[in-house]
Amino acid sequence: MKDIERPELSWDEWDELHDPRPEENDFDKVVEEAVSRRGFLGGALAFGSGAAVMGTAGTLLSSTSAQAAGHAASRFPFEALPIQTDATVHVPPGYKWSTLVRYGDPLFSDAPEFSQTDTLPADKADRVFGENTDGMELFEIDGHEVIAVNSEYVNTKINLVFSGGDVMTADDVAVLQKLQGVNVFEVERTDNGWGVVVDSPFNRRITHQTEIDITGPAAGHDMLKTDADPTGTKVLGTMNNCGAGKTPWGTYLTCEENFNGYFGSTDETFERPDDFKRYGIGLEGRYSYEKHDARYDISQNPNEPYRHGYITEIDPSDASSTPKKRTALGRFKHENAACVIAPSGHLVVYMGDDERGEYMYKYVSNNTYAPGGDTDDLMENGRLYTAKFNWDGTGEWVELTEEATGMSKAEICVLTREAALRVGATTMDRPEWVAVNPVAAEGYCALTNNSRRQVLNDDGKLRTNAAGQEMTVNAPNPRAENRYGQVVRWYPSNDDHAADTFRWDLYVMAGNPAVHNDAYAGSPNVNEGNMFNSPDGMMFDSAGILWIQTDGNDGNEEGFAGMGNNQMLAGDPVTGEIRRFLTGPKGSEVTGLTWSADRKTMFVGIQHPASPFPDGDGTLARSSIVAVWRNDGAPVG
Ligand code: FEO
Ligand code: CA
Ligand code: CA
Repeated sequence: MKDIERPELSWDEWDELHDPRPEENDFDKVVEEAVSRRGFLGGALAFGSGAAVMGTAGTLLSSTSAQAAGHAASRFPFEALPIQTDATVHVPPGYKWSTLVRYGDPLFSDAPEFSQTDTLPADKADRVFGENTDGMELFEIDGHEVIAVNSEYVNTKINLVFSGGDVMTADDVAVLQKLQGVNVFEVERTDNGWGVVVDSPFNRRITHQTEIDITGPAAGHDMLKTDADPTGTKVLGTMNNCGAGKTPWGTYLTCEENFNGYFGSTDETFERPDDFKRYGIGLEGRYSYEKHDARYDISQNPNEPYRHGYITEIDPSDASSTPKKRTALGRFKHENAACVIAPSGHLVVYMGDDERGEYMYKYVSNNTYAPGGDTDDLMENGRLYTAKFNWDGTGEWVELTEEATGMSKAEICVLTREAALRVGATTMDRPEWVAVNPVAAEGYCALTNNSRRQVLNDDGKLRTNAAGQEMTVNAPNPRAENRYGQVVRWYPSNDDHAADTFRWDLYVMAGNPAVHNDAYAGSPNVNEGNMFNSPDGMMFDSAGILWIQTDGNDGNEEGFAGMGNNQMLAGDPVTGEIRRFLTGPKGSEVTGLTWSADRKTMFVGIQHPASPFPDGDGTLARSSIVAVWRNDGAPVG
């Protein structure tokens, strides 16, 4: 039996160990800057062992988080779920759940039955539901319900047996490339509950080998040309598909996050350009792709990494359609994409770049959206902005223009991190999902954690982001060594998501009030009954309730005692109240959320469970999507 005790490193952990960043800057400067803000913050500012801490009375905590602490009337129709530490999913009384689909389940009838002991053959690996489910959306297409959902990466130690033992062979790599990417499949509810419609004409797998068009300002640029594609407009594969988005015209946006980890070099002496280091592209890939597929060998194909790290648009209504990489939305470690139409009709897409000390972004189309009209231009021609947060609760979206960055439009779209650095973007505590409230003009971003925020190395130098910027505490990221995370909220000026300016506050600072009595206790809407760490996935339902999913430390001890397994909570933007709704199995991350067409079922993703799930003892831990519904059949969002 294979080891099923603990999954291997997450992508984030792997990235951190694999490519350590240069450490520079000095602590004196940090202390001086932080002290100068003390009066403004109005909180107890404490220094100790190289860490600065903002007091709990920071003026930028939201009024709603304080309101929740005052026990405003709850709008949630369910009882708060206690923490759990076991190997299964839990929901509150009055709700039920069942498994919709597991890693390895067939999407097509020619797929073999899932084996608890043997890896799929390469020619069948793209006929099943892929590994490690993540962002998803449900589409209603001519009376059919079709889910598009990401398969972010593969837990090789749990779910694969390598033909070469610990050494990956070309055949192993071929399997891996087909187990990741995107799944599109029809679902239906029968007397036996929700299930996949095997062989539906909508069913499709998009993998690391699927042909995709490169579009937008960077298409055809020299940086994107390779021997295999001298036009710089055709690429194979979308990879490390993390969060997702849905356009107003009914297409799926899949977001390429840690694409860097797939590349390596067969030549140890290969000199990487600086921008490779900024994006964490190293000499050794996580899955040894570079040893068996020259496309991933940067010493042979140094331009291939410039063809990944984008948002890819997929039409779920046509399984034969060619996906499009939309370079206008920039290249970074894309978490998800939250679309909204501004009052003027312009498309606005909010996006986060999930790495310590990276930035938040917004795209605004040049043309306007008209239902039923041609939408192909809307993610081709537009303006890209990055977020700058001020200590006084204001902020601005700074446009990445050629003038401001000194870069061409194509360069801005490929080396987007550099462009944002040049205009003074605010370093954030790992921007994960962004969500836009459908009933109020406000956006939210989960800042999952940043253990390196204002932390010193042994040599006394301050930790930096990948660009060498010191990660001092700043207004929306006010805690040093932030292991709990927070959710920042912004209100666009004039209720217009296309506006250049906004006001902001912190909707919640996660923390542990049972262990701490300072800023690490969390904001007033965090208590011993709802505490959590590392907010990550976030989606609004149709009623304007914010669903928060976590991907954090589930050790349930020390600073994380009382938090239990990763979970999904409901957040009320009006009262600030947060209530735990669902818990995942031990070791898993809860990520991905969508609803059936009648809103009576929610589909929730369970990624990288470490314990036998969902089938219990003696079975493999399989990433799965579960369906959740109310016993009385009422809508759940
Ligand atoms: Fe794939 Fe940042 O989570
Ligand atoms: Ca995530
Ligand atoms: Ca995460």
